[in-house]
Amino acid sequence: MTSVRTREPEARALGAAQLWIGTSWKMNKGLAESRRYARELADYVSANAIPGVQPFIIPSFTALAATRDELGDDSPVLLGVQNAHWEDHGAWTGEVSVAQAKDAGAQLVEIGHSERREHFGETLETTRLKVAAALAHGLVPLLCIGESAETKRAGDSSRFILEQAAGALDGLTDEQLRRVLIAYEPIWAIGEHGRPATVEELRKPFADLGREYGGSTLGLLYGGSVNTDNAEELLGIDHVTGLFIGRAAWQLPGYVRILELAAAHPKASA
Ligand code: PGA
Repeated sequence: MTSVRTREPEARALGAAQLWIGTSWKMNKGLAESRRYARELADYVSANAIPGVQPFIIPSFTALAATRDELGDDSPVLLGVQNAHWEDHGAWTGEVSVAQAKDAGAQLVEIGHSERREHFGETLETTRLKVAAALAHGLVPLLCIGESAETKRAGDSSRFILEQAAGALDGLTDEQLRRVLIAYEPIWAIGEHGRPATVEELRKPFADLGREYGGSTLGLLYGGSVNTDNAEELLGIDHVTGLFIGRAAWQLPGYVRILELAAAHPKASA
């Protein structure tokens, strides 16, 4: 059993990496598979340099502690959870708090993924409470924002995602904002029913996000059908400083390939 004491993000030089490359496993993988992935990833990062790249993985809650143990103390790979409650403890049956997630090894909290907004009633207000709770516990909030196909068709994408971001980040000090990651994940580009976004489609949303949050946050990530074929060009978009990956990184070789592409990208050494 390894200690979690050294795995707190504030104890490490967060922000030193230029590119954030991470994956959420969503509701996939049992203990054995999670352990194997984490162990093999730990072997990979101890044998291979990925300069300028900050890797992170987000397993299910059930596999969090096991994954932490396989990564080991002082791993360069950050560990996250896919959701967390803003209260530290209490009568919230079925929920897991930021404090509990931190206790089990989490350093990062994914907040406001479109699947949670659509199926589990996540709102501007709950995303705001969760961002604040993550920051209060020294964890990195990874705020996901993204518009539907209808909103995009109506030409309203930028207004919509800027409102989602502003709602969740309302009231933060400049210092707190610098500890926040934002992932732009258009709903129409996510998952097996999504269609990959073109670089051209992403330029304007990232220009708008970059103007608002580019220099003031920890990073601006893109997510939605990222894969080994498009990762490089997506990283080339102005203001994109990372990728948040689902399916293409659920098997380790896919994730490792994207880590390598990121490490070789000019932005990793910028
Ligand atoms: P995908 O998922 O890469 O499988 O499209 C992305 C996400 O939901 O974050």
